[in-house]
Amino acid sequence: MSYLITGATGNIGSLVTERLLARGERPCVFVRDAKKARALFGRCVDIRVGDLADAAAMASAFAGIDSLFLLNSGPGLGARDRTAAFAAKAAGVRHLVKLSTLDVQTKVGTGPWHAQGEDAVRESGVPYTFIQSAAFMSNALGWASSICSKGVLRSSTGDGKIAFIHPADIADVVTRALTTREHEGKSLVITGPTALSYGEMAAVIGAAIGKPVRFESIPDAQARKMALAWSDSKEYAEALVDIWRAIREGRLTTVSDGVERIVGRKPISFETWADENADAFA
Ligand SMILES: NC(=O)c1ccc[n+]([C@@H]2O[C@H](COP(=O)([O-])OP(=O)(O)OC[C@H]3O[C@@H](n4cnc5c(N)ncnc54)[C@H](OP(=O)(O)O)[C@@H]3O)[C@@H](O)[C@H]2O)c1
Repeated sequence: MSYLITGATGNIGSLVTERLLARGERPCVFVRDAKKARALFGRCVDIRVGDLADAAAMASAFAGIDSLFLLNSGPGLGARDRTAAFAAKAAGVRHLVKLSTLDVQTKVGTGPWHAQGEDAVRESGVPYTFIQSAAFMSNALGWASSICSKGVLRSSTGDGKIAFIHPADIADVVTRALTTREHEGKSLVITGPTALSYGEMAAVIGAAIGKPVRFESIPDAQARKMALAWSDSKEYAEALVDIWRAIREGRLTTVSDGVERIVGRKPISFETWADENADAFA
């Protein structure tokens, strides 16, 4: 089997690449910056350089690939997914695994962007698996500066709960889908083990660092200002505010047994993630 991983220099793509390497594979990575890929993976991967907006670069990069991991992000991801899916079909790719979001189902935040991407993949006719993931535990790293400096987590999510998932669980599910084709034609819903409020997650981080962390509710307008400061586009900032509102209103409480069904073990808890990442909050 030949594998090509997009987003290989990012959070999930790098973990998927590491997992393929651990299985003794030699995956290809499709990256914008070859030096960044070399620094991460040395000479253990084949590097194909290009941009996910460039159909010609993808056409040549996808040649000879059996199994493709597709990761696109930000506004416009639906159009980039379309270009990639049709390039994959034309190149004879046998299976495309797309990192999508659980919010495709609720139409919240980036859900509509990923829904466009999923539609395009279906239209292309390439065999697919969609990984409909809950929000990542690693999003909590965005709270680090305020927790470090003021011991507070501010959010517009109120008492609403969400079951964040550990990036390692996502990577394990993606790797399973890429390497077995057991899940072809399916949308795999995956979440963490427990829905927690942001106040509960603040307390978990406090326990991990041995200092109290206070939770403070803020209105949408203040949350929007914070989102605009973090994100590189107004559309993405608005998507974040929409997600936080949906959490507050109790619309994103899904807990699935997807990780356990697919990889045969329980999903990793937020407590474990907080212990692993305590240094970022201390
Ligand atoms: N965060 C969440 O809670 C959550 C929940 C569900 C689903 N998702 C989805 O997960 C995905 C993000 O995953 P992640 O956190 O692993 O991403 P990430 O860490 O932000 O990494 C993004 C990767 O994509 C690459 N990339 C970006 N634009 C590109 C382009 N035009 N051409 C080629 N490569 C490009 C980046 O390469 P460079 O190194 O060159 O920048 C990087 O490797 C998104 O689709 C998001 O909607 C996120």
